[in-house]
Amino acid sequence: MIISIANQKGGVGKTTTAINLAAAFALRNKRTLLVDLDPQANSTMSYLDAMVLEKSMYDVFVDGALSLSDVIRPSTQPNLWIAPSRIALAKLEARLVGELDSHFKLKDRLAAVESNYDVIVIDCPPALGLLTVNALVASTHLLIPIQSSYFALEGTDDLLETIEKVRSRANPQLRILGVVITMHDKRTSLARDIRQQIDKVFGKKVFKTVITKSVRLEESPAYKESIFRFAPESSGATEYYRLCEEVMDRV
Ligand SMILES: Nc1ncnc2c1ncn2[C@@H]1O[C@H](COP(=O)(O)OP(=O)(O)OP(=O)(O)O)[C@@H](O)[C@H]1O
Ligand SMILES: [Mg+2]
Repeated sequence: MIISIANQKGGVGKTTTAINLAAAFALRNKRTLLVDLDPQANSTMSYLDAMVLEKSMYDVFVDGALSLSDVIRPSTQPNLWIAPSRIALAKLEARLVGELDSHFKLKDRLAAVESNYDVIVIDCPPALGLLTVNALVASTHLLIPIQSSYFALEGTDDLLETIEKVRSRANPQLRILGVVITMHDKRTSLARDIRQQIDKVFGKKVFKTVITKSVRLEESPAYKESIFRFAPESSGATEYYRLCEEVMDRV
């Protein structure tokens, strides 16, 4: 099972979902690899000290002699490994321009290591460029976080169009696993309206578990911990654990 966490809108909760969903799988004794494909490297920094990393996913993409297993590092949590990103990934597009297999690079590299893991979670950047397309081509499933905000559904048309393009040729088996609503504020009527709008567009694809706004979820990356270690009693921990259960029920 290879799950991309993607939405080209920035700041909607992709990384928060990727790091904590991966941690939830690891807690359930699934050998889990978290692949960071965002040049911002937020997933990487949530678990590793980026200063000591020599090689990153960028090197895996451009250096044919380097294997993905050469850059994978263990996190401090059992069953959880990280394939780190670095800002260098931002120049990947320019570097791979003209290469015929540029969309298949990640798929090819994952093939060599995927049997070592039960689950692979890919954190995508906020764009629909080469990196996100590589993730979609390599994935069996896609999970879309949508922020509970007035502009929640803006841009989802473009995302769905990209998914269809990938499905039509490069990866017909790609499935939309579901949509998770993030940063929800139960107290406001606006949030309830937004929930209804999202339900209208995505119907049964919307996960029952909603991720509410929580300061704990914002804080945990700074302490290099998942929400399950940083604040195991928090709403965020309960919600991401439930989301993981729903994901497992759906695959
Ligand atoms: N449920 C939540 N409650 C409170 N804050 C949250 C929640 N989820 C995410 N955040 C915060 O919102 C900000 C954006 O979240 P996150 O980094 O996960 O989004 P993203 O989609 O990965 O962003 P980008 O597009 O830049 O990669 C972060 O500061 C994060 O800590
Ligand atoms: Mg992110």
